[in-house]
Amino acid sequence: MKKMTLKLAVILSILLLISIAFGCVAPVRSPKPPPTLAPVPTIPSAHRQYLPDCRLCHETGIGEATVIPEDHSERTSGDCIACHEWEKP
Ligand code: HEC
Ligand code: HEC
Repeated sequence: MKKMTLKLAVILSILLLISIAFGCVAPVRSPKPPPTLAPVPTIPSAHRQYLPDCRLCHETGIGEATVIPEDHSERTSGDCIACHEWEKP
């Protein structure tokens, strides 16, 4: 009877080791890449003098200014500097 128990214990522990080695170990997942967002262009530092009239040129593209995207239609000049960082001089 004692021998049986010992045998059983050995078999069980082998099974346990096998399952740890193969089954139960979660696969190592590579971290998810961060969502890709369009980069926020920096504001040329010379534009400080234009505050608070950022939309003036960027709404229509006066003087070859980059026309602001459609999702910018509700954004005010005060908002601009909340998202866009000033270019390092
Ligand atoms: C007098 C017109 C004018 C005003 C006012 C103005 N900009 Fe500009 N802006 C331009 C022009 C022209 C360019 C493109 C040439 C350059 O980089 O200087 C530009 C470029 C930019 C760019 C870079 C765009 C890109 O695609 O790289 C950002 C951001 C920007 N402006 C933000 C602002 C913000 C914020 C304000 C308000 C503080 C502002 N601008 C006021 C004319 C203007
Ligand atoms: C909520 C954040 C946010 C605010 C507020 C914001 N922008 Fe932007 N802006 C962005 C992002 C993000 C992009 C780049 C992705 C895109 O083109 O939509 C961008 C792009 C731009 C571009 C470049 C467009 C191009 O085609 O290259 C200009 C110029 C610009 N913004 C000017 C402004 C001005 C001027 C204001 C204020 C009226 C402003 N932004 C307010 C987030 C913001």
